[in-house]
Amino acid sequence: MHSLLILNGPNLNLLGTRQPEVYGAETLDMLENSCIEHAKKLGFQVQCLQSNHEGVLLDAIHAARGQHVGIVLNAGAYTHTSVALMDAIYSVEIPTVEVHLSNIHAREVFRHQSYIARAAIGQICGFGTQGYLMAIDALVQKLTQSSDVS
Ligand code: DQA
Repeated sequence: MHSLLILNGPNLNLLGTRQPEVYGAETLDMLENSCIEHAKKLGFQVQCLQSNHEGVLLDAIHAARGQHVGIVLNAGAYTHTSVALMDAIYSVEIPTVEVHLSNIHAREVFRHQSYIARAAIGQICGFGTQGYLMAIDALVQKLTQSSDVS
């Protein structure tokens, strides 16, 4: 079974208690379980990883080569700062969908810039945890169309 990597960056381990008015009440565990269940229905398996450390996220993207056919990435605040994460996505050439729980374009100006967006196949933001499931749908559709998976 083909596998997707669901990668969450800094502070997303605090989901459920972190600014629930912005990020919602669901915990990371709940979110990850929804992703696993949703992907299973589409015939994909999922590996989930969260880290507060940029280097760990980089290593996970590098290690995805040959392991995962797609990546769903919420890089948290690194979205707005990390050329290294952008370069990693370019380097591994694995279709990646950028996700944000909040609508970053309706927030502070410093959140409008995304380095990830340049390397991702698309960006989904503002739909809360539902956005991850939308990202999985988008990836599966893209992969199926391009016959990267069969
Ligand atoms: C976030 C948006 C980022 O600006 C912020 O730093 C986060 C979460 C989101 O999911 O809405 O940590 O990526």
